[in-house]
Order: sequence, then C-alpha cells, then structure tokens
Amino acid sequence: MKFNSKNCVLSGSVVMLNLVSQVLSWDHSLFTSSPPVYPSPETAGIGWDVAFAQADAFVGNLTLEEKVTLLTGVAQGPCIGNIAPIPRVSFPGLCLQDGPLSIRQATYASVFPAGLTAAASWDKGLIYQRGLYLGAEFKAKGAHVALGPVAGPLGRSGYGGRGWEGFSPDPYLTGIAMEQTISAMQLSGVQATAKHFIGNEQETQRNPSLSDKNVTIEAVSSNIDDRTLHELYLWPFANAVRAGVSSVMCSYNRLNSSYSCQNSKALNGILKEELGFQGYVMSDWGAVHAGVATAEAGLDMNMPGPMGFFTTTPSFWGSNLTMAVNNGSLSEARIDDMARRIMTPYFHLGQDLDYPPIDLESGDLNVLGVQPYLDTFKYGPANVDVRQTHAQLIRELAAAGTVLLKNIDNTLPLKAPKTVGVFGNDAGDLINGLYPMSNNYEYGTLAVGGGSGTGRLTYIVSPLDALKDRATGDGTLVQYLLNNTLLSDPTTAFASIAPSPPEVCLVFLKTWAQEGDDRTTLLADWNSTTVVESVASYCNNTVVITHSGGLNVMPWAKHPNVTAIVAAHLPGQESGNSLVDILYGDVNPSGKLPYTIAHDATDYAFADIANSTQLQETENPNAWQSDFREGLLIDYRHFDYYNRSVLYEFGFGLSYTNFSMSNLNIRNVYGGGKITSRPLPAPIAPGGNPTLYDVLFQVTVVITNTGSVGGAAIPQLYLSLPQTPGENPTPVKVLRGFERVSLQPGESTTVTYDLMRRDISHWDTRQQEWIIRAGSIGVHAGFSSRDIRSVGSFSPL
Ligand SMILES: *[C@@H]1O[C@H](CO)[C@@H](O)[C@H](O)[C@H]1NC(C)=O
Ligand SMILES: *[C@@H]1O[C@H](CO)[C@@H](O)[C@H](O)[C@H]1NC(C)=O
Ligand SMILES: *[C@@H]1O[C@H](CO)[C@@H](O)[C@H](O)[C@H]1NC(C)=O
Ligand SMILES: *[C@@H]1O[C@H](CO)[C@@H](O)[C@H](O)[C@H]1NC(C)=O
Ligand SMILES: *[C@@H]1O[C@H](CO)[C@@H](O)[C@H](O)[C@H]1NC(C)=O
Ligand SMILES: *[C@@H]1O[C@H](CO)[C@@H](O)[C@H](O)[C@H]1NC(C)=O
Ligand SMILES: *[C@@H]1O[C@H](CO)[C@@H](O)[C@H](O)[C@H]1NC(C)=O
Ligand SMILES: *[C@@H]1O[C@H](CO)[C@@H](O)[C@H](O)[C@H]1NC(C)=O
Ligand SMILES: *[C@@H]1O[C@H](CO)[C@@H](O)[C@H](O)[C@H]1NC(C)=O
Ligand SMILES: *[C@@H]1O[C@H](CO)[C@@H](O)[C@H](O)[C@H]1NC(C)=O
Ligand SMILES: *[C@@H]1O[C@H](CO)[C@@H](O)[C@H](O)[C@H]1NC(C)=O
Ligand SMILES: *[C@@H]1O[C@H](CO)[C@@H](O)[C@H](O)[C@H]1NC(C)=O
Repeated sequence: MKFNSKNCVLSGSVVMLNLVSQVLSWDHSLFTSSPPVYPSPETAGIGWDVAFAQADAFVGNLTLEEKVTLLTGVAQGPCIGNIAPIPRVSFPGLCLQDGPLSIRQATYASVFPAGLTAAASWDKGLIYQRGLYLGAEFKAKGAHVALGPVAGPLGRSGYGGRGWEGFSPDPYLTGIAMEQTISAMQLSGVQATAKHFIGNEQETQRNPSLSDKNVTIEAVSSNIDDRTLHELYLWPFANAVRAGVSSVMCSYNRLNSSYSCQNSKALNGILKEELGFQGYVMSDWGAVHAGVATAEAGLDMNMPGPMGFFTTTPSFWGSNLTMAVNNGSLSEARIDDMARRIMTPYFHLGQDLDYPPIDLESGDLNVLGVQPYLDTFKYGPANVDVRQTHAQLIRELAAAGTVLLKNIDNTLPLKAPKTVGVFGNDAGDLINGLYPMSNNYEYGTLAVGGGSGTGRLTYIVSPLDALKDRATGDGTLVQYLLNNTLLSDPTTAFASIAPSPPEVCLVFLKTWAQEGDDRTTLLADWNSTTVVESVASYCNNTVVITHSGGLNVMPWAKHPNVTAIVAAHLPGQESGNSLVDILYGDVNPSGKLPYTIAHDATDYAFADIANSTQLQETENPNAWQSDFREGLLIDYRHFDYYNRSVLYEFGFGLSYTNFSMSNLNIRNVYGGGKITSRPLPAPIAPGGNPTLYDVLFQVTVVITNTGSVGGAAIPQLYLSLPQTPGENPTPVKVLRGFERVSLQPGESTTVTYDLMRRDISHWDTRQQEWIIRAGSIGVHAGFSSRDIRSVGSFSPL
C-alpha cells in the first residue's frame, strides 16, 4: 500500500478541448431478453428475527384465500393502496399512501421540500429529520406504508418528469439520502418503500399503449448493461435494502425488454438473492401484466389490485392466484413466502400494536377508490392535524437546499435596500387552489411538482409575502409585477415603477415537472428567457431566483446586469421564509448543485429520453427501446470524461464566507489483515455481502472558515478508480464522501470520510462480484467536482 498527498489549488474553470467522442461498445441484440432466475428466493427475515417468527406463525394460521388477500390490493378502500382487513385474525389491513414529500391524500399534513431540495442540502442530519417527520405524519394518519423515497428515476436525463421526487443523478449522494430517509421513516413506525425499481428514467411511454390500429405497443425498455446497473442505478437501492427498507416498488418500464414487475433477473436474482432483500416487492399501480409469471418472477404484492377510477379493471391476481395454487401451476410455498415478506415488516415496526386508525378524511380524498369502502377498515377521526412543529425543519431544510450560483460584488445578502422590485409569475401567492396536482399553472409560486409525488398544501408562504414582511421592518419599498406577458416587453413593462429602477430587482422563474410527462425544455417556463432579459435590460442589479422540478439551462447567466442567481429548487410550504433567510443572510447559503448545469440543452444529448414522431406513430409493439449507451457516464461523469466545460458544475454553490482545505491524509483502517481484491465470502445480509461495507480506508481533511461570517461548508471527496482496458470507461472521478460542517470565522475542523470496500471496487461482470482492481486510486477533495483543493492517492492491494 502506498500513499502520497499534496495540497494544491486548481482553477474551477476547465478548458474546452476538441471532443474525441469515444465510441462505447454496444450490441443491442444483447438486450432483447433478460436471463431467467428461478425460483424466487425465500425470505428468512434476516435482521428481523422476532418479527419473522411472528409473521411465520401468523401466515401459518391463514387459509389460502386469506393469504391471497394479503397479496392483492382492493379497490374498496380509503387509501391510495389497500390490503383488506382479515377480521378473523384481527388483522386491520394495510393502508398505503403517497408519496415522497408529503402524505398526499390528507388534510392538515406538512408539505416538505422535495427530494431534489433535500439532496441539494447535502446535509445528512436534515435529510434524516425530514424522514423522521414524514414518517410521523404518515403514522399519525393511520398509513402503514409510505410510497417513498425515490431512487429511480436516478436522473439520467434532466428532462425526466420525476427527477425531483428523487435526489440526485449521483448514486452515492442518492444512496446516502435513501438510507437516511428510510432509517428515519421506519424509526417513526411507518414502512418505507424504495421506488421505482429499476431503470424508470423516463415518463414517456412508461406504460403500454394502444396504437391507431389497436396494436398494444409495449412500454419503453431501458436497456442497461450489467456494470452500469450495479455501479449506477442499483447502487442507491443497495443502500435502501441495507437500511432495512420494508418494501421495494417495481417500475412501469421494461428492463432489457422484460417488464420490471416480472423481470426474474432483477427481482429474484439481483434484489432478493444478491442484495438479500427480505421485505416485499410491490408493483407500481397497474404495472402488472401477467398472473402466475409475475408471482414466480418475484413480485409479492399487486397494487392497487383491481384498478379503481369509476370502474375496476382486473389485477391478474386475487382469485387467479388461489386457482393457480389449486390447479398446481403455482406452489403454495411461494404464496407463503410472499405473505411472510409482507407481514414481517408489519410486526417488526410494531404495527400490530396500537397503530393509529385511518383518518376518516382519507377516503373523501381518494380518487382511485371504489365506494362503498369495506367497513372492516379501522377509521379514526377526520382531519387530524399531524403537522406539529415540522414547519421549522421545512424552512431550515429548504434554505439549506437553496444554491447560490452567482453573486457579483456581494449583491447578496441584501442590506436594507431602499427599493426592491419583485418580478415574475413565480413570486406571488397561488390563485387556483392549494393542490397543484396536475397543471402548470401560470400565476403563483412553485413549491412542489405534480402527480402522485405532490402534496396538499395547508398554506404557502410565497416569496412576495415573505419579502413584504421582511422589508417592512427595514422601510424598504417593495414594488411588484407578476405578469410575465407584461414583463416580456421592457418598453412598457416598468411604467408603474417609481422610483425607477429599483435598487435591486428580483426575478422569479419556475419550471413545472410532473409524473406522467417528461419535460420538453430545460429552460424555465413562461417566457423565462425573455423575462430575464427584459428585467436585466432595465435594471443593472438583477437577481434571478428559480423554483424548479429539475435542472435548468440559463442562457442569461452571463448577462452583466444579472448580478446574482439563486436555485431554490422545490422548497415546500415555507418557500418564502426559507428564501428570505438566504437573501438577507440570516442563513448563509451552503447548498450545492446535486446535478450539473451545462451551457446549453444540446450538451445533454448524450442521454436523451426515447421519443420521436416515429415512435409516437409506431405499429411495432417492441419499438420503444432506450439504450443506455452512455453507460456510467451521466451528469458530471460525462462532462469530466469528455473534458467539457460547463456553466455550474456538480457540487458547486457559493457562500457568503470562504473556506480553505488542508492536510489531506489517507489511512488504512482495516483491521482484517491484507486487503483482498474480492470481498471475503460471508452470509448474505440486507444490502448484499456485508463485507462490502467494511471500512477499509479513512481520508481526513481540515476545513477552515477564512471569511468574516459564520457558515457551512460541504467538503466533498472524489475518487479516481483505475481504468480497465477493454471495458467501457470508468468515470474520471466519482463522489465517495461529503459532510456539511458549520464553522465560525477563523474556526477549523477535521472532516473524516470512511471509504468502504464497495466505494473502491468495480462491478466485475465476468466474476459477478465487486472487485478492487490493482493500481492506484486518485483522491480529490474539494468544494465542488471541479474545485479540487487537495489531492492524493493510494494503492489498496
Ligand atoms: C441486461 O442485458 C445485459 C446484456 O445482455 C446483461 O449483461 C444484463 O445482465 C441484463 N440485465 C438484466 C437485469 O436483464
Ligand atoms: C390463529 O387464529 C386464531 C383465531 O382464529 C387465534 O385464536 C390464534 O391465536 C391464531 N394463532 C396464531 C398462531 O396466530
Ligand atoms: C380499436 O378498438 C376500438 C374499441 O375496441 C374500436 O372502437 C376501434 O374501431 C378500433 N380501431 C381500429 C382501427 O380497429
Ligand atoms: C384473472 O386473469 C384473467 C386474465 O388472465 C382476467 O381476465 C381475470 O379478470 C383475472 N381475475 C382476477 C380476479 O383478477
Ligand atoms: C391454473 O390457473 C391459472 C390461473 O387462473 C391459469 O392461468 C392456468 O391456465 C391454470 N392452469 C391449468 C393447468 O389449468
Ligand atoms: C412571451 O413573450 C412574447 C414577446 O417576446 C410575447 O409576445 C408573448 O405573449 C409572451 N408569452 C407569454 C405566455 O407570456
Ligand atoms: C398580462 O399582461 C398582458 C400584456 O400587458 C395583458 O394583455 C394581460 O391581460 C395581463 N394579464 C392579466 C391577468 O392581467
Ligand atoms: C444594464 O442596465 C442598465 C440600466 O441600469 C442599462 O442601461 C444597460 O443597457 C443594461 N445592460 C444590458 C447589457 O442590458
Ligand atoms: C446601476 O444603476 C444605478 C441607477 O439605477 C446607478 O446608480 C449605478 O451606478 C449603476 N451601477 C452600475 C455598476 O452601472
Ligand atoms: C414526444 O414526441 C412527440 C411527437 O414528436 C411530441 O409531441 C412530444 O412533445 C414529445 N414529448 C416530449 C416529452 O418530448
Ligand atoms: C481529456 O483530457 C485528458 C487530459 O488532458 C486527456 O488525457 C483525455 O484524453 C481527454 N479526453 C477526451 C475524451 O478528450
Ligand atoms: C473570498 O475570497 C476571495 C478571494 O480571496 C475574495 O475575493 C472574496 O471577497 C472572499 N469572499 C468572502 C465572502 O469573504
């Protein structure tokens, strides 16, 4: 083992070189089927021993029909997914509710910052708190299972309509966010669901459709090679399983041409065998397209069962499973395993003991349900207020997830300006209701995205309201224009402003995103470019603030009158308060981009979502294919590998203070003797071979606040793993550590990063194992993926 390290200062800018696009090897014919893996591994309740014994006894006491009841949803229930009660054995049924940032079908519940915002905070503790409070709200509403958090989509494409529900296109950052969220939610007593497994990277054609000639056109197939699956898309799910997640939801799309909810390689082979998942696989709503075949491929729970929406369409399961067992085409042992997988987390989390009843209001809010509901569900009072004091965390986390991208001449923080102009349709209050489920509304601030991942707001603090409150104290005059059409014409737009122009002009932009649709542009919506150019042509101190369900390109970023840019993501209900905290410096910004902002939309063409007029008009059932040819090289891994300059790199974000980094140190801390290239064999546990998570090395750096105000830094650790000739490229560097540290001026602290075996291994497709390769591993510590301050290297073998 060898070490060397030195501290250096590199410039954040990267020279644009001529692009020599390396052609990655790709043979589409290898992705037309997925290997069969049978039989479905049985759970032994590893890590949940007491609960497993309870589940085993419970299931042993059920008839076949009762067991099948546990596996198939019923439409006659108050929740978005319902497992019917079995009164004979005092089982109250299961209530499953959306979603990842709020219990959606509920009144008096909090709307938290989106996963994207949580990721932008890079704060493990705040992400944990969010999970804890989310879990508490689900439980208090009587929901047994929360349908979140999200690691798929991971964020292969910025156009993905659901990227904001999850965390970051970086699997390491998403993996940490998943495990923090899941551990915390389950500590609160609610079952977490890691979704959507796997390759659910686009909304377009996520489900089968009928062509003009009534041919069934199958859902898009995400074609992913084995190494990319392991090192990128599966990685955060491994964290989720290791954290003890109760349930994993299989996705709508196909994977290598086989529907995710009946892909035996993915469910039996990878999830249950390799990762040792002990809980249950739940289908996405309506993602089941076969009966016995899905059960044998590893699906354990069919949701929502018969589909509601006024009539019901059958589920393939229910009485069909009973029949299949009775006629010998499905083993009862498989049914028993499915039932034990479902009941074990229920007992483990103590949901059999005094679990709160279902809020009576849930049913009124349920558009999927078919009335009348089964009267065997246990109902409690309606409209229970479960918000407690969670608004404080919501405000704090949204501020922590706000990223300052540009700040010329200390424009921010604001210092009691005499006049402030507030411009744009994203600044003001909502005018069409507090439940922005499914439309890109013109007027009103954007706090959450749409679809099943949205939340029902109980109030919203708009940026304009919060600014007015704050400005009143300073005697600042706040003038505002919220009409983007009016703002598009600078010759007339500002006639009402006096004195004119204001000292500082705040422009609020928004970008809608929702389940079911992919974005059609990476620009902010509603004429955003025209609006920014209009305000900036008039006001030489223009601050642009974005609320976005994903990344934006910013063609106006270098405009000389755009003096500051703030990416506020999707902040949840305390939006204005958390933003004003940043704008006025009550909170020093520390958020970092959890994705890359390139110069232009065309820079992202390496991983386009599948869509074209030909595909839209096809009569070929199998036409929708999405080849993930870029392999591991998504987001910063692409831009780094091809030496492309970007506007704002992954991990970037400014502060009102400065930090330095020094004393990079690398230590072998493995107590087990010589480090082997292969992990030592060990009994499988949730997360896979437990030795993959042995800490082998520790890297430390010293961080100092060298500026004049207190603030938080997020020192990041990137590794350069060896390239392997003959394989697709390994990223130039990958994130393998981060910590958020708060420091007063002049204060220093040592940050320690644990490097686990998995962190320094490649997935070897031939050996089907995580392997530490011979050679030196580069260590890069810095304040973004391109602001590297200290470098070193080590050779682990
Ligand atoms: C997908 O196909 C590739 C290429 O044949 C294969 O290596 C990989 O194991 C497959 N994965 C699944 C889940 O089918
Ligand atoms: C089986 O169910 C009966 C109720 O019908 C109950 O009395 C008994 O305790 C149950 N046994 C187990 C092992 O759950
Ligand atoms: C497709 O099916 C629908 C309903 O079953 C029917 O009304 C329609 O005529 C069919 N179209 C064609 C082109 O066959
Ligand atoms: C059983 O499956 C068939 C299709 O194979 C379907 O028509 C039927 O409705 C299913 N029954 C139930 C109860 O889902
Ligand atoms: C057994 O039942 C299943 C479910 O109804 C059905 O799909 C299958 O065709 C049946 N098999 C036989 C041999 O009857
Ligand atoms: C966008 O700006 C143009 C002027 O550049 C204007 O004609 C148009 O009405 C604006 N559209 C909206 C939706 O505001
Ligand atoms: C927005 O401004 C345009 C252009 O001045 C105007 O036509 C339109 O009526 C305004 N919209 C509202 C809601 O006032
Ligand atoms: C910047 O703002 C000033 C008004 O303060 C304006 O005169 C100037 O043209 C603007 N610059 C640009 C490039 O729009
Ligand atoms: C910006 O515009 C104001 C007047 O609106 C002017 O006082 C100030 O000097 C300008 N600043 C710059 C840098 O041009
Ligand atoms: C997909 O393609 C169709 C047809 O070209 C187009 O109308 C639609 O807007 C596209 N959708 C996305 C998300 O790009
Ligand atoms: C990127 O730059 C590095 C160092 O200059 C060089 O070795 C590598 O070949 C370049 N990669 C591409 C794809 O141009
Ligand atoms: C940070 O350091 C740079 C360069 O030394 C300096 O220009 C800048 O003013 C400092 N910023 C703060 C907020 O201290």
